[in-house]
Amino acid sequence: MIRTIPVGLGARAYDVVVGPGLIDRAGDHIAPLLRNRRTAIVADSNVAEHHGERLSAALERAGVAVDVITVPAGEESKSFEGLADLSDQLLALELDRGDVIVAFGGGVIGDLAGFAASIYKRGIDFVQVPTSLLAQVDSSVGGKTAIDTPRGKNLIGAFHQPRLVLADLDVLATLPAREMACGYAEVIKYGMLGDADFFQWLERNGARVLERELEALSHAVARSVEMKAEIVAEDEKEQGRRALLNLGHTFGHALEAECGFGEALKHGEAVGAGCAMAFRFSAMLGLCPDIDAARVEQALKAAGLPTRLDDLPRGPGFRADRLIAHMGQDKKAQGGTLTFILARRIGEAFTAKGVDPAPLRDFLITEGALP
Ligand code: GLY
Repeated sequence: MIRTIPVGLGARAYDVVVGPGLIDRAGDHIAPLLRNRRTAIVADSNVAEHHGERLSAALERAGVAVDVITVPAGEESKSFEGLADLSDQLLALELDRGDVIVAFGGGVIGDLAGFAASIYKRGIDFVQVPTSLLAQVDSSVGGKTAIDTPRGKNLIGAFHQPRLVLADLDVLATLPAREMACGYAEVIKYGMLGDADFFQWLERNGARVLERELEALSHAVARSVEMKAEIVAEDEKEQGRRALLNLGHTFGHALEAECGFGEALKHGEAVGAGCAMAFRFSAMLGLCPDIDAARVEQALKAAGLPTRLDDLPRGPGFRADRLIAHMGQDKKAQGGTLTFILARRIGEAFTAKGVDPAPLRDFLITEGALP
């Protein structure tokens, strides 16, 4: 049950391989990409503890020399300090441009190691071996790499495509249920934005995906990657259609900002609530049938994801004006106007530029925000 999904980017094209048992076969996939038979694995400390030995052994079996750099687990590593530390360790290994970095972990590691690869000696190849559902279906594919600064998340970064992505479904077996739900928010987002049949399939089979039944999980990850690959191949630098992948993210970003970007509200949970709000806002504007907004809410709820402000961990409540202020600061906002991804129906999202703050404010108040 191994599927290979090409990302068609001409000279920078690469494959995303999805299936079980890929870590143990990583050497067979990665060795052909190497000029010097040498890699540095950059691993999240938790991932290194649980799966590091297996990945190193698989590469060594294929005759590849391996050094392992361990990065502390957690978003704090995605900082200028974390980048400086990682770059220094790569320099100490005297890695050169013919070598390859293997990013082994969730979204934090992929973003950090990918960005380090984009600037190390003016650019070195890297491979993504994502270990969370969210990273497998979203962040490892498409070449967005970045670090955070105190002024915001992912504000410093580069587009740097990996040479290969290996999404081993076996590693998801030990992922906490909350992390699975976070990744699932991104999976169902693909159905909402562009594939009504996939959405309907998830309505029926979402529980099997969350239970990690291999056949269902494999279909969900592969279909998500296929959709992302197709969109990225058409619009690598987010000049147009790639923006649709931000469905739920403008609302979600504002919710995350108010909840402190941490464990209280995780990114995938914010995206889930944000998608539900984007559909309800679309329905309020008369753009989308109410029934579609209700189905979206139901499908997210069934996965244990938040869909309403009341579901979110913020004691004093949310203020409409503060939420709108965060939306204006979102890095997707252009020239001070608000841009949203809205929907005409399930499976048909579109970019709405210059959204008027007045109906948005009314909407947030009907959602329970304070004026
Ligand atoms: N995560 C959205 C994108 O890669 O464009």
